[in-house]
Amino acid sequence: MITTTVCSGRGASPRPLRRFREEELDSGSELCLRGSSVAIIGAGQGMGEASARRFAQAGARVIVMDIDRRRAENVAQSIVAAGGNARALTVDVLDDENLIAALERARVEAGGMLEHLVTIVGMAGWSRLTEMSGEMWDAEQARNLRYFFIAARTVALMDPAPERRTITAIASVDGIRSAPFHAAYGAAKAGLVNLVKSMCIEWAPMQIRINAIAPGAIVSPRIPLADEASERARFSRIPAGVRGHPDDIANAALFLASPLASYITGQTLAVDGGLTALGPLDYSDVLAGMPGSGQTLGQ
Ligand SMILES: NC(=O)c1ccc[n+]([C@@H]2O[C@H](COP(=O)([O-])OP(=O)(O)OC[C@H]3O[C@@H](n4cnc5c(N)ncnc54)[C@H](O)[C@@H]3O)[C@@H](O)[C@H]2O)c1
Repeated sequence: MITTTVCSGRGASPRPLRRFREEELDSGSELCLRGSSVAIIGAGQGMGEASARRFAQAGARVIVMDIDRRRAENVAQSIVAAGGNARALTVDVLDDENLIAALERARVEAGGMLEHLVTIVGMAGWSRLTEMSGEMWDAEQARNLRYFFIAARTVALMDPAPERRTITAIASVDGIRSAPFHAAYGAAKAGLVNLVKSMCIEWAPMQIRINAIAPGAIVSPRIPLADEASERARFSRIPAGVRGHPDDIANAALFLASPLASYITGQTLAVDGGLTALGPLDYSDVLAGMPGSGQTLGQ
């Protein structure tokens, strides 16, 4: 049982974090989220899109949020066409006012209450630390860490609040191990790993569970699957032997939001095929092809 005397949030009293009820596990599937809503930010493609589909399959009403309206609409429409429940909303996580207003709209679209939030947006900028500008440092914190704080705080303060809520951030294995040549990204992702711990303590009395997922090397629209030989050459050090799939992240996100994870909060779950069990990777191939400070999504 989690008990804490640390209490924050409006009117929250220090009550033990509620666990699942037996009848919820009798509902046919322990991963059933029927009757609840989820806002997924960055759900227009890749692991965000996979998460949107997974939550919809589990019966949740999904608010598909992305800066790219067309992507968000395509994902929402295809979920609806498959018999699920979804709405599309545009949002720019780099604009606080826009982010807060979009989450408020998401709450209304969700029928008045948001039970779950998943934040997918993130991006790695590549640069040696000696060549890194202050602007680049700030940009990495903004698009990987700061917006998560704003989004999570907005959801935590929503009124009315559902009985129980979950918030899940997408961090990275680079927030757990070192992140040479993209150190600002690694520091921001490490910030997420730490922030979910503080939020878990401050917000447990508000019946909110907060966790992070640390993906390893995942196939994504920006870094698609290459031919077998190239994949083997580049990713052979992953103990699992292959890169992960966006569904691997979606499955972890669904698990963390589900009643099965009702005693899990403040944690970072590495979904990495064993990558964090290794030491730092060899980035020499990336550096060799790096014209100054390149940038790419992921890792
Ligand atoms: N792909 C990997 O190998 C990998 C590894 C570790 C961690 N990650 C993390 O996983 C997450 C997803 O990475 P990805 O490469 O799969 O991303 P992606 O490019 O597949 O998806 C990101 C989505 O976010 C949207 N987006 C971008 N900027 C936005 C903004 N300002 N406001 C709202 N939406 C915005 C994009 O339109 C896109 O649909 C990131 O947080 C990344 O750091 C990825």
